[in-house]
Amino acid sequence: MVNYKVADENLAEKGKEALYIAESKMPVTAEIIRKRFSEEKPLKGITIAGCLHITKETGILARTLKAGGAEVYLCGSNPLSTQDDVAAALVQEGINVFAWHGNTDEEFYWCIRECLKAKPNILIDDGADMIVTAHKEFSELIENGTIIACQEETTTGVKRFKAMDKQGILRVPLFPVNDARCKNQFDNELGTGQGIVAAIYGMHVLFAGKTVVIAGFGHCSSGMALRARGLGANVIVTEVDAIKALQAKFAGYNVMPIEKTLPIADIILTATGCKHVIQPSKETFNKLKDGVILGNLGHFDIEIPTKELYEYAKEIKPLRQHVEELIFPDGKKVYLLAKGRLANLVLSEGHPAEVMDMSFGLQSLMSEYIVRNKGKLKPGMIDVPVDIDDRVGFLKLQAMGIEIDSLTEEQYNYIHGYEEGT
Ligand code: NAI
Repeated sequence: MVNYKVADENLAEKGKEALYIAESKMPVTAEIIRKRFSEEKPLKGITIAGCLHITKETGILARTLKAGGAEVYLCGSNPLSTQDDVAAALVQEGINVFAWHGNTDEEFYWCIRECLKAKPNILIDDGADMIVTAHKEFSELIENGTIIACQEETTTGVKRFKAMDKQGILRVPLFPVNDARCKNQFDNELGTGQGIVAAIYGMHVLFAGKTVVIAGFGHCSSGMALRARGLGANVIVTEVDAIKALQAKFAGYNVMPIEKTLPIADIILTATGCKHVIQPSKETFNKLKDGVILGNLGHFDIEIPTKELYEYAKEIKPLRQHVEELIFPDGKKVYLLAKGRLANLVLSEGHPAEVMDMSFGLQSLMSEYIVRNKGKLKPGMIDVPVDIDDRVGFLKLQAMGIEIDSLTEEQYNYIHGYEEGT
């Protein structure tokens, strides 16, 4: 029996078309790993719950985990990122899905609880909400060893778990899959970088000639700065980290405090994982340029002070789906994308499948690793093993038909030795 609650089961055919497209773009997850999983069934008897953006790419991950023998439960990791057609298609394939676009906070947590009620052995989270809920409300699953280990997909989730670990309250083995090289150097940089296209479609503006402010110069934001510049924008980067700020400066961007950019910015895009990157005050709001577009690509909707902007606006006009015109008391107009939530997922389809292939290849292999190491994993943060990270890299190269050199014995000994010098 499949357990589910989705928006509309009749959307399944459309969802199947989306999944069909992703299949061909994800050779590592959908072909190479899935073929072996189908034969070896490394996840037999295991229940996996994923709190992930319900997109076609997540559907491909779910298919691969199921092919490996797992019972899969999915809920959305953001109230606005679920693609209802994909959710409906996955239900038809026997994946248990509790997700629909536009759910309330209460419904969001109800979906998480429905997945946890299935007593999962592995949790794959995106933002930490499911694993934190497991700690608070389903602690018996941790105490009695039902949950073997957990995996986290995004930077904000990893930061939350590091904070829990530091306070001694993280009680599960936690693999920060986000921090693997095959994940954050590709998914975050390339995927979120290309996410600025969603910002363009939000208002259908030309980036060329515009002053675009990118808050942050981390994995996601440096990708966004690069793509915005590629589209002809004058890019200003804001940072709080001296080294990142220097990197941005030497990469040729203007760098300055965000407050100084407000009167000149045509578009402001955030992806910092921080709160109130634009300060939630009337004085700050009044500095914004008339007509500015505000978009966030960081995990939570608090980088741009959405709530306070809504309160300050005297009128909020929906312009098109997920784009609002906020009219301030003095008549100034500000355009808010995706209610301050992940603009690339809400206004578009999220990262391209090609880049999610590596992230979800890693998540697939990490689920297998967890099962193989059941009983040996201690609570706390555990790095993704380097050989698994490397293997996904090699598989991606193989799938793309790219060969690379390998070290000769002489080279290996040289770079691992100290004797040879001047
Ligand atoms: P990161 O840690 O590599 O970069 C964040 C950067 O923001 C750092 O350089 C930091 O110094 C800077 N920063 C922090 N506070 C700031 C502030 N107040 N003003 C200016 N800069 C500030 O993190 P990463 O991987 O780039 O992730 C950023 C956010 O994007 C996270 O919330 C993450 O979960 C999310 N994310 C979103 C994705 C999407 O599809 N939209 C995909 C992957 C990650």
